[in-house]
Amino acid sequence: GKGAYDHFMLKEIDSQPESLRKTIQGRVDPEAGEVTLDALEEGDLEGVEQVHLVACGTSYHAAMFGSNLMNRRGIPATAHRANEYTDTIPVDGDTLTIAVTQSGETADTLTAIRRAEKKGAQTLAVTNVIGSTVAREVETPVYIRAGPEIGVAATKTFSSQAVTLSLLAEHFADDLPQGTPREDREEFLAALERLPEDIQRLLDTTEAERLSRHHLDKEAFFFIGHELNYSVALEGALKFKEITYEHAEGFPSGGLKHGPLALVTPETTIFTLLGSGPSTQTRSNAEEARARGANIVTVAPESVNVDDVADERLTIPDTHPDLTSLLANIQLQLVSYYTARQLERPIDKPRNLAKSVTVR
Ligand code: M6R
Repeated sequence: GKGAYDHFMLKEIDSQPESLRKTIQGRVDPEAGEVTLDALEEGDLEGVEQVHLVACGTSYHAAMFGSNLMNRRGIPATAHRANEYTDTIPVDGDTLTIAVTQSGETADTLTAIRRAEKKGAQTLAVTNVIGSTVAREVETPVYIRAGPEIGVAATKTFSSQAVTLSLLAEHFADDLPQGTPREDREEFLAALERLPEDIQRLLDTTEAERLSRHHLDKEAFFFIGHELNYSVALEGALKFKEITYEHAEGFPSGGLKHGPLALVTPETTIFTLLGSGPSTQTRSNAEEARARGANIVTVAPESVNVDDVADERLTIPDTHPDLTSLLANIQLQLVSYYTARQLERPIDKPRNLAKSVTVR
């Protein structure tokens, strides 16, 4: 049950330190710089020349995060929306196709992975549900171990998918000829182990709840970010529209000026995701929007100065640059939750949506 919580969504957001501990448990050894994934063995990616990730909705955003992280480790990976993974996409025996699906039952994702299998690709699934259709059909199921998720809005499973994909990225970096073991792997794995504590620190603050009250009368909510933060910008917007019913869109930071800027007015709030680095592209595009009256809410690590661009800010703990986006995502989950709550929306069961979409 929900216990002391009014909604499963908040319970599930709050459970992320615990669910992520389970995702990581026994799989990471920072001192040895090693990742162990039950289903996978060394060298079992021999012959793989490209990695395709296929998924829908929130799982697609986790797949985008995962493919970006793999690219950073030298692995040629691309994320595809499962519905667009059609026969026109070149797939052969040198391809590894990974289905990312919480339920393991999403029809569009099953269609995509079956198509890849038919063309001779190796197949793997990153899923939450043991014994699900996808887990039974692929060669290699890898479980995210997030525990059951009741809220239609996916929260803790996004985080566990992203972390599982980052473990896969580390595993593949050893196996693929293109992958190069990175010098900072120990640091990354140590940061991964600290992630549950960082999330707990973030959850103990009330910034997102307070901030949500200031934006209830806005006409549109945009979310912008670059690279890893781009996937989270899309996820932030999806979550926001799904449970608040307000107009929300995610854009790559640099894309704003190629069209969407025409929509920006003083009634627009722009959640601006900043990394620990200079984030020049995101800052300059947010400044453009601010000059047109937009309210800029930055989501940035503690140590980052945002005074020149932010009207308001949400803070996240400092961590490894590859994990900053996952903390930002949790602030955005909270913003969506508290906004929907103020607007008295039926948070756990939004209109027109189902937890698992088993039709094409
Ligand atoms: O079970 P799956 O991960 O395959 O589901 C995919 C999407 O339908 C799902 O993530 C959906 O977008 C969520 N309701 C978003 O919160």
